[in-house]
Amino acid sequence: MTVPANAMRTWTAYGGKPELYRELRSQLAALLEGESDQVANAANTSALLYHALPDVNWVGFYFLKEGELVLGPFQGQPACVRIAIGKGVCGTAAKTLQSAVVPDVHAFPGHIACDTASRSELVVPLAKNGVLVGVLDLDSPSIARFDETDRAGCESLAAVFLDR
Ligand code: SME
Repeated sequence: MTVPANAMRTWTAYGGKPELYRELRSQLAALLEGESDQVANAANTSALLYHALPDVNWVGFYFLKEGELVLGPFQGQPACVRIAIGKGVCGTAAKTLQSAVVPDVHAFPGHIACDTASRSELVVPLAKNGVLVGVLDLDSPSIARFDETDRAGCESLAAVFLDR
């Protein structure tokens, strides 16, 4: 298993953002190959993305359990355990089934601060046949860290995770 080294945590080392996401899709598919355990796959997915993507301080999962989002495997500082559907960035993405790209979390009404270092956030809803199963959450210490290429890239990585 090859995880990109910290020394390569730049887009340019891969030729650009889309190229890095393409590489990560193939690495993630290889990492999850033949394994269907959701916890194990979520743990490896968050570890791969946390170490491969530049400028992130938290990458992890919340899964829908008994009507609310419950913290799953992640990398980063300890985080809040339960999030109601519709609350915060995660609950909003879960409710709308749309990815949320938040350039400045301080300007997002109802943002739930887990790590005070977080300044921008990307949350991708995870749904199987249109039914919510959880969210993939990425935080960055930089303002406006995530753009449309990150949204599309992380949605495609979430699809690889959901495929297993
Ligand atoms: N900021 C999120 C909460 C989860 S943490 O960022 C890990 C939110 O507003 O939903």
